[in-house]
Amino acid sequence: MPAPRKCSPDTDESAGASRHAPFHQDRESRYLHVSFRGALPCFGGLASKQRHTTSRAAVPPPPVRAAVPMIEDTGTLFLRGILAAAGLNPSHYRGTPLLRRLPSCLRALRVDSLHEARRLLSARPELTSKALEALLIGTTELFRDPAVFIHLEQEVMPLLLRRPARPRIWSAGCSEGAELYSVGLLLAKLGALDECVLLGSDCRPGALARARQGVYLPGDRSLPVNGGQWQRLSDGRIAMSHELRKAMRWEQSDLLASGPTGTWDLILCRNLAIYLEPASADALWSRLSDALAPGGFLVVGRAEKPNLPGLHRVAPSIYHKCSSSHRTSP
Ligand SMILES: C[S@@+](CC[C@H](N)C(=O)[O-])C[C@H]1O[C@@H](n2cnc3c(N)ncnc32)[C@H](O)[C@@H]1O
Repeated sequence: MPAPRKCSPDTDESAGASRHAPFHQDRESRYLHVSFRGALPCFGGLASKQRHTTSRAAVPPPPVRAAVPMIEDTGTLFLRGILAAAGLNPSHYRGTPLLRRLPSCLRALRVDSLHEARRLLSARPELTSKALEALLIGTTELFRDPAVFIHLEQEVMPLLLRRPARPRIWSAGCSEGAELYSVGLLLAKLGALDECVLLGSDCRPGALARARQGVYLPGDRSLPVNGGQWQRLSDGRIAMSHELRKAMRWEQSDLLASGPTGTWDLILCRNLAIYLEPASADALWSRLSDALAPGGFLVVGRAEKPNLPGLHRVAPSIYHKCSSSHRTSP
């Protein structure tokens, strides 16, 4: 089985998952929640750039949790301001994981304090994307959770490839693309790369630029050998083949506002929902379930458990939409 391989050293996903319930509430109930709909106090007028979609497909913002005036700590406010300035709706995101990224954000902006960071972003709003890259955790790796890919290769892909139409596969929140390349490597091994539509989407343009390059640090275990679909570069990194890169399409979009249209036979959306407020995560699962073709499969992160009628868990982290399922929203 191919090797799991880290693309980024930053991770707190397992920690995030374990905090999801009681601890999360204990800790955060000290802060009251803020929704950003208008201008943000955090760094000047940046927030006015937010482009929240009002389309039918958007994930609705979570209900406000407190009925009293709402105040959040200044660090979290600042970070939510970065999300808003980048066009994302900050109220979808949990405060605790955001706050943990504050030191990374300050490092990325090369400043020592929140005060300096605010001043810098007010003066140079173009640095928002740099702050966003540091704020949203992009940890990923080739063949992350190997058991999932074994099941995909042995059970799911053969099923999808028997269908008359070309299977459509979407990696939603794909970060630097390692997940979609892992799927692509397996399809190439099955001789079916040409037969599939492969799309990766993420809200961070920097991550997508790296996905297009398809070059990764090496891992501990070997990758599948299939007709030169990757090669080791002189610096030890691994480069995906031209054929593999050509087979993939990358799209910048906010998954919580809108997303690629059409129906999909296999959607991988792993390790994004754990950073969301529970109501936003539920709404996201519901939208993804709607986007699945009947008989399609949804792959989630190890700590994520969508609970939707019509989706049945067929293996750890893998859900199947019954062929007779109807759409859950109009
Ligand atoms: C931890 S990575 C997961 C990467 C990959 N799915 C995996 O599990 O290996 C989460 C990704 O979700 C992306 N993300 C967060 N919020 C998003 C949004 N609203 N729309 C699209 N992508 C988003 C982040 O930019 C990040 O790249």
